[in-house]
Amino acid sequence: MRTHHCNQLRASDIGSTATLIGWVNSARDHGGVIFIDLRDREGLTQCVFRPEENAEAAKLSHQLREEDVVLVTGKVSQRLDGTINDKIPTGEVEIVASELVIVNKAEVLPFQLDKELSNEDLRMKYRYLDLRRPRMSRNLRLRHRVTKASRDFLDDQGFLEIETPILSKSTPEGARDFLVPSRLQEGHFYALPQAPQQYKQLLMVGGVEKYFQIAKCFRDEDLRADRQPEFTQIDIEASFVGQDDIIHLVEGLLGRVFRESLEAEIPASFDRMTWREAMDRYGSDKPDRRFALEFVDLSEELKDCEFRVFSGAVANGGVVKAINAKGFADISTGQIDKLTKLAQDAGAKGLAYIQARGEERDKWRSPFVKRMTDDEVEALRAKLNIEPGDLILFAADQWESACEVLGRVRLACAEMQQLTKDNTELDFLWVTEFPLLAFDEEEGRYVAVHHPFTRPHPDDEQKLLKGELSTDIRALAYDVVLNGHELGGGSIRIHEAPLQSAMFKALGISEEQAADEFGHILDAFRFGAPPHGGVALGLDRLVMLICGEHSIREVMAFPKNNKGSDLMSQSPAEVDPKQLRDLRLQLKKRPGNPDATPA
Ligand code: AMO
Ligand code: AMP
Repeated sequence: MRTHHCNQLRASDIGSTATLIGWVNSARDHGGVIFIDLRDREGLTQCVFRPEENAEAAKLSHQLREEDVVLVTGKVSQRLDGTINDKIPTGEVEIVASELVIVNKAEVLPFQLDKELSNEDLRMKYRYLDLRRPRMSRNLRLRHRVTKASRDFLDDQGFLEIETPILSKSTPEGARDFLVPSRLQEGHFYALPQAPQQYKQLLMVGGVEKYFQIAKCFRDEDLRADRQPEFTQIDIEASFVGQDDIIHLVEGLLGRVFRESLEAEIPASFDRMTWREAMDRYGSDKPDRRFALEFVDLSEELKDCEFRVFSGAVANGGVVKAINAKGFADISTGQIDKLTKLAQDAGAKGLAYIQARGEERDKWRSPFVKRMTDDEVEALRAKLNIEPGDLILFAADQWESACEVLGRVRLACAEMQQLTKDNTELDFLWVTEFPLLAFDEEEGRYVAVHHPFTRPHPDDEQKLLKGELSTDIRALAYDVVLNGHELGGGSIRIHEAPLQSAMFKALGISEEQAADEFGHILDAFRFGAPPHGGVALGLDRLVMLICGEHSIREVMAFPKNNKGSDLMSQSPAEVDPKQLRDLRLQLKKRPGNPDATPA
């Protein structure tokens, strides 16, 4: 319908005739002459309606309102001196309209497109309008670029894109499944895949060697800014590879993605850190290293401290760790309370602190410094490099709890101090040697830290085979981290039936249950399964970071809110009773109140 898009005409086009179509971004009446900014997804072009060019079009132009869809034809003309707009690429020219077609009128919009809107529900209800904004349009384009670059890179490396079923089988050991009732097989359910994990491993047994998929995954979890019930992974699996092969592949992939989306060069290889070191120094398995706030271990220095919180923790085999938040001594009581609450929510009994309001210890505001010897104070001063103005925060507990608590405090502190504000650094990191098992207190058994198909570290394999279980058994599992976000994770897999059986046994899965739930995998491993491994990158998170957004909802066309609802289509929704009858499903009323919503 058009000769040009709205970001195409330049001074060199002056004198030619052009036809544009798009939305009225704004309309202004300057003494009977109507100016509109016409918008399409590429940009804006100014169009002028003067009675002397075409009286009819000029008259019609008085009816134009924002977001009407219009077709404009006219001469590309030089803008008058003083009216050149150097903020837009078409700012030197305007179209002097000789023809106007109002293609479709728009009613008044529920919100203005040129203003940031804090009411996210309203944005989501009218997501199709929200998507007209330049920011959203740019995010969708970047997402496309990232997906395209990933596909191209993996294709170049010989990977085949293969689809795997969405109607699949519920398996234990993951997040909660979304279930789909089967009509043909009464009482049976499919589950939507949490990831194509088993299928991609079975593709390796099928001789595919190199697989990838831009895969939709579904997990019925509590939602957060970087979590959605359905999300997308760049899912990869390869045969005859080790950990370094997968790591190099992902580094190459991300290099290509950043080059083709942001024209940014990232390091050819990323730092690596074991899980233990990451926890020990930053209290996180996805450390944000753009700011220091590194942990200092004070267990030795404080083991005899009169302050029982510290000495008691060490006596119980635990540790005392601290961070120095430089220049944050003037933290408000409210902020201290907030940090303390955070520490308590993470399982700590409290949060000990020192506000160093001067050089001397009597200027240090702290609930316990008076109970420390001069030697202890000097040891703290030296090891933590305490200077006037510093705030020191402590955690005393068993190693892992202390690290976790202080890790959260560290992040909250960085946020309060705005340490990453205006920081454009990209800090990539591999975290390796995750533990294979974690002990679930509630269930009273070990669970897989990654998933049950992850291979133990070769040095720890015998422990698993012999059933000598502990959280010290390391896995051949790795996560790639960007600026404190887990971008992706993967592992080298178990490919032998006996080792896989040992893993199921470690997880307290009986032989019958293993045969029932995972029989196909165990069977497959009996027929010559190749060694294999893989990884999955969270596409939404990757695009979120590339777009500089703080929520993955900003980079998904139609996301769900934190209650899992799509406010635009109003899903989830009740269904027609006939549909339930077909599925032979019946909703139970909540007990006690027959009129209440079904439970
Ligand atoms: P994992 O469970 O670590 O591994 O998931 C891989 C990556 O997917 C992203 N991700 C999510 N993104 C948005 N919303 C969610 N709810 C969500 N959950 C996960 C994260 C994460 O790093 N099959 C294994 C991979 C493998 O072993 O190859 C898996 O799914 O960025
Ligand atoms: P109390 O002696 O109980 O008044 O505690 C003194 C300070 O130690 C308070 O600021 C507590 O929040 C803090 N505290 C208590 N338990 C711990 C712990 N396990 N780790 C760090 N600080 C703690």
